[in-house]
Amino acid sequence: MKKRVAIIGVTGSVGQEFVQSLDNHPWFEVTQIAASERSAGKMYLDAIRDASGIIAWDVGGQIPEYIKNMKVLKVDEINVQELDLIFSAVESEAARDIETKFAKDLPVISTSSAYRYEEDVPILIPGINDDQAELLEVQKKNRDWKGWVAPLPNCTTTGLVITLKPLVEKYGAKKVMMTSMQAISGGGKSGVSAMGITDNILPYIPKEEGKVRIETKKILGKLKDGKIEDADIKVSCTCTRVPVIDGHTESVFVETEKEIDPSQAKDTFNSYNEDISVSGLPSAPEKYYAFHDDPTRPQPRMEREVGDGMTTSIGRVEKEELFDNGLKYMLFSHNKKMGSAKGAVLLAEMLYKKEKI
Ligand SMILES: NC(=O)c1ccc[n+]([C@@H]2O[C@H](COP(=O)([O-])OP(=O)(O)OC[C@H]3O[C@@H](n4cnc5c(N)ncnc54)[C@H](OP(=O)(O)O)[C@@H]3O)[C@@H](O)[C@H]2O)c1
Repeated sequence: MKKRVAIIGVTGSVGQEFVQSLDNHPWFEVTQIAASERSAGKMYLDAIRDASGIIAWDVGGQIPEYIKNMKVLKVDEINVQELDLIFSAVESEAARDIETKFAKDLPVISTSSAYRYEEDVPILIPGINDDQAELLEVQKKNRDWKGWVAPLPNCTTTGLVITLKPLVEKYGAKKVMMTSMQAISGGGKSGVSAMGITDNILPYIPKEEGKVRIETKKILGKLKDGKIEDADIKVSCTCTRVPVIDGHTESVFVETEKEIDPSQAKDTFNSYNEDISVSGLPSAPEKYYAFHDDPTRPQPRMEREVGDGMTTSIGRVEKEELFDNGLKYMLFSHNKKMGSAKGAVLLAEMLYKKEKI
């Protein structure tokens, strides 16, 4: 029997991606959905209509049949007795209460930041820090919950940490400097106005840079005696919003402990591809990393469909002359696929295999 799941925040930008990522899933079946009071009580198709009556489906392709006539519930109407797992895709203030309420009874996988910075909460990227999932047992015990909350990182942290991980393991990392060029969809359905972003670059995204700094060190840290010891890396970043619909591009400078030859970086990422823990899971891409020698890659329009948005693309890998040892490179990571909804489904698959769901 498939595990019964609910999507909370199902009408939003990430919620819609969840709807698609879970369509015909071999292990999970969406049996309940919820959103705010504004949408509750409506059939899904009506709930995603905008003020002018247009169906605001933001995901490419058809709206899956299973969801069209499903009724959107209020959060309080969700029946936890008939569920095995909650996917939460709500903004962080509302998420705090919602996730606390559900974690008392059920595992909760979240795309919000509500719980990310708590000591007994791991921030998980499937394939990168799977071992930190053991902290969920500590969390359960600490809080006397039947479930737990497992958040993903901020979507800008995701690509950065995925690309840093093989470098950190092999060469050590002392300092990281990153400038992001983030997609419009990262701000959610009401995040950025068309007038504000067209022909423009917004040089500031509230709270984003602090999140990237804290999360990067936590995810690359080590789980020891029931706690995560942060990685000893200095992280500096500038996060900007650019007129791209989906997918974040980031320019990264990393100072390594050991000497690093850019020509070996390709082998480092390729050998990681062979051993990646999530390989073979239903939502995992064939290639976790795509490495480009062509200096004109990565580009959002060319990379966002690769591996159905679950592949992280890397290019422009060169020696960084500012440091004794170091590299600079560009990466592309899909904010709504690997960076949120489909990444959350991959996380659920990884935790299911570990028998935590
Ligand atoms: N967008 C991305 O690329 C991205 C990536 C990673 C993480 N995230 C995180 O994922 C979460 C969702 O982001 P988003 O971009 O999908 O936001 P969004 O487009 O604004 O959608 C928010 C969703 O939450 C629902 N909601 C709001 N308040 C609620 C409440 N009190 N109770 C129940 N449901 C409520 C909304 O329902 P209504 O439609 O009824 O208002 C909607 O379904 C946020 O925490 C965000 O930071 C987003």
